[in-house]
Amino acid sequence: MTRDEIVSWLICDDPSPLYQRADAVRKEFCGDAIHKRAIIEFSNCCERDCHYCGIRRGNFGLTRYRMEDSQIFAAAQAAAALGYRTLVLQSGEDRYDATDRICFLIRNIKKMTNCAITLCVGERTGEEYRAMREAGADRYLLKFETSDRDLFRALRPGSSYDERINCLRRLRELDYQVGSGCMVGLPGQTPETLADDILLMKEFDFDMIGIGPFIPHPDTPLQNSSGGSLEMTLRMIALARIVTRNAHLPATTAIGSIHPQGRQMALRCGANVIMPNFTPQEFRAHYQIYPNKICINDRPADCAVCVDGMIRSLGRTVATDPGHSLKRGGRGIAQTACKSGEGSYNKRKAG
Ligand code: 5AD
Ligand code: FES
Repeated sequence: MTRDEIVSWLICDDPSPLYQRADAVRKEFCGDAIHKRAIIEFSNCCERDCHYCGIRRGNFGLTRYRMEDSQIFAAAQAAAALGYRTLVLQSGEDRYDATDRICFLIRNIKKMTNCAITLCVGERTGEEYRAMREAGADRYLLKFETSDRDLFRALRPGSSYDERINCLRRLRELDYQVGSGCMVGLPGQTPETLADDILLMKEFDFDMIGIGPFIPHPDTPLQNSSGGSLEMTLRMIALARIVTRNAHLPATTAIGSIHPQGRQMALRCGANVIMPNFTPQEFRAHYQIYPNKICINDRPADCAVCVDGMIRSLGRTVATDPGHSLKRGGRGIAQTACKSGEGSYNKRKAG
């Protein structure tokens, strides 16, 4: 798809053909199984001050927490006991959680469970990424947020777009399965810059791509912005599916937070992953990156039951394998989730 074609899908009156095509591409290249990833938000301390984010360091009204090692292990074991094969360890960008500690967590969780580990702990040095990979981390999520450099600079003081892209390159070199993605509806974003986001996803050939609506947080400088719409986010997910073919695309918590059926709709427009919250209930309310986040009053077991019901109600199945990347068959990554697996990848390359 060209940039112009992407733009026209973003602004057209009737996106339903786009959604249908995305669903068909998802079925062909990823199958009907939905991968569940248990997310543990182990600390909301953050040194960054991004204008959009509710846990930015400038939000002094927030109760800050760091889960104890034992609490993190208990959450990981609870998810593994429920059959989860991927754990996502997410936190703010917090130097207190030194790489040594994260490596300690990874090594122990790997001993306790048979789960793949995805990290989402922000920009770090190449050495830190290497140490965490050697400790056993399989995947890393680092969203590029927006490919519009000016917007990136305006919204993320002290952070550089080039450095973020460099981090993504480093992660790839270290053989992580790399996830990235963007927000939809940031102030100043246009259909053209969103089209560039899609083209960047294709160019980088990410293993995973998270796309969610921007939701203005009342305690941030963007409190009066209008935020992203459900429909624009669905169009972006559908476009990402069509251009990337077999990237893992989550139905994000953010899309579920702006519409009660948001995640279900995303799963029908190209998404094939869901990430239920396994953060212990006592901490959840403090990890509101955006307001009105779903599941704040639920417990991990509630979310587990809820997403299983959601998957069943969509007529899809639950994946039982770790749900590794469907890309780069040569990286020794299991491809059992994808019937068309490597073949599809080659087809995609050829096409
Ligand atoms: N609305 C929606 N998503 C947000 N994120 C941060 N702030 C917001 C917000 N206000 C997303 C960013 C970040 C991820 C952890 O959460 O994309 O990478
Ligand atoms: Fe948490 Fe539905 S996923 S209650």
